[in-house]
Order: sequence, then C-alpha cells, then structure tokens
Amino acid sequence: LSGLRTKVLGQKIHVYGEVESTQTIAHALVASGAPEGTLVLAEAQTAGRGRMGRAWHSPAGKGIWMSLVLTPRIPVFFMPQLTLLSAVALCRSIQKVCQVDIGIKWPNDLLIKGKKVSGILLESSGEDERLKYVIAGIGISVNLKTEDYPEELRNIATSLAIESGADIPRESLVQAFLLEFEELYALYLEKGFAPIRLLWEALSVTLKRPIRTHTPSGVVEGIADSLDDSGALTVITQAGEKIKIYSGDIELK
Ligand code: BTN
Repeated sequence: LSGLRTKVLGQKIHVYGEVESTQTIAHALVASGAPEGTLVLAEAQTAGRGRMGRAWHSPAGKGIWMSLVLTPRIPVFFMPQLTLLSAVALCRSIQKVCQVDIGIKWPNDLLIKGKKVSGILLESSGEDERLKYVIAGIGISVNLKTEDYPEELRNIATSLAIESGADIPRESLVQAFLLEFEELYALYLEKGFAPIRLLWEALSVTLKRPIRTHTPSGVVEGIADSLDDSGALTVITQAGEKIKIYSGDIELK
C-alpha cells in the first residue's frame, strides 16, 4: 500500500491468496507475537465467518476481506464500543472513496438502500477483565456483480460497484479505512466513547425507526431510540417501556 498515511495500523501487512478465514490467521499471528496494527488481507476465503455463527460470502478478487490486530488495554465490557467505532470508521472511509448513500444498522452492519454491503466481526481475548487483544474482521463487498451472489443473497446483499455503477480500487479503500480507524481509535483512547457515539448516531439508519429483535426474554418490538454510554441500543416499546439491547441483531421494519 504505497499511499498509506497511518503510523501504526497496517504498518505490517500479510497478504494471502485463498485462506479459510483471515480471522484465524490473525489469531495465530498474535500468538506468535504480531504487534498492534498488523493487517491480514486475503483475495478469497473458503470459510469466511460472520456474526452469530453465520458464513460470510468471500469470492476471489471482488472484495476486501481483512483482519486487523488491536491491543487496547481497556475493560472487556467496552468491546461493544469498539464494535461501533469500527462501523463509523468503515462508513466514513467508504463515503470518502465512493459516491453511495450508506448508513449503519445497529450495531455494525453497513447498508445501502436497505441492503448489506459490509459486515464487521470482532473477536477478542481477555485477561483479568482487560482485553489482551481484539481481531477486527472486516468484509466489504466491493466489486461483486449481481451474478457473483448466490440467489438467496440477492435481495439482502449488494456491493459498492453495483450501487455506485463503477469498480472501486480496493487499495484506496483499505488505506482510507486504516487512516480513518487510526484517527477515531486515538480519539476514543483519549476522550472515551462520547465523541464516537455522536458520530455513530449521525450515520445511523436505525435510530427513530421501528425495529424488532429477539432477546433471551422474548421478542421486543418498538422504536430504536438512542445509544447509551456502553453502546447498547435503547428501544421504546408501544407500552412506553424502555428496553436495552446489548447484543444480537435487529430487524428494521
Ligand atoms: C457479519 O456481518 O456477520 C460480519 C462479517 C465479517 C466478515 C469478515 S471478512 C474478513 C474477516 N474474516 C472472516 O472470516 N470474517 C471477517
């Protein structure tokens, strides 16, 4: 990446052809001493992982499939904040590189016209209630065409090329993302979650909309109202009750 302007993130990059999952490789690199900022990129993944045990469609040469090593010495329960920060960084970098109307669905899916274009999976390892390291796994469907998607994904997934009408140079997007992430990460470590929360809220396509979600205590339906300090989503039900959603997925209605 010749135009990379970051100080730490992406200073060491491992590029692969086909791998099972860049996440698995990043975990192994950390185990052998890889420092913060190490980036793993692959052309294709045969077993790309999504959130909640789902698979991630990662065909060769068409997307950005990458994993970034982070070592923030923050409490484990701050992980959701890092999840939201990742979504803000990704959303802002995509806005800088291509002309699309993109927004964030809680917690960290990026949508264009209601279809998913990018997903983020954070996997962590902790010790004594502090994070030892986090692997931020990012999948961006960059230059996939409709025929690159299996039938069952065509109504729910899209790509930057489909939506903007032009192929996007993947290197520019990786560089823009790393720079954006580095700036927001520094802001977060210095000032905490408050400024990130404001940025997230401004990019959200979730807030003030009717949503449905499954929680351990049943289905919750209501209006997504706001984010709290921990990154949880506050939903106001029809009965006026305020319920906090800490993890999982929501459905926009
Ligand atoms: C989701 O929306 O469910 C998260 C998808 C995350 C996919 C990326 S692609 C690079 C990295 N390696 C993986 O196996 N998964 C993440």
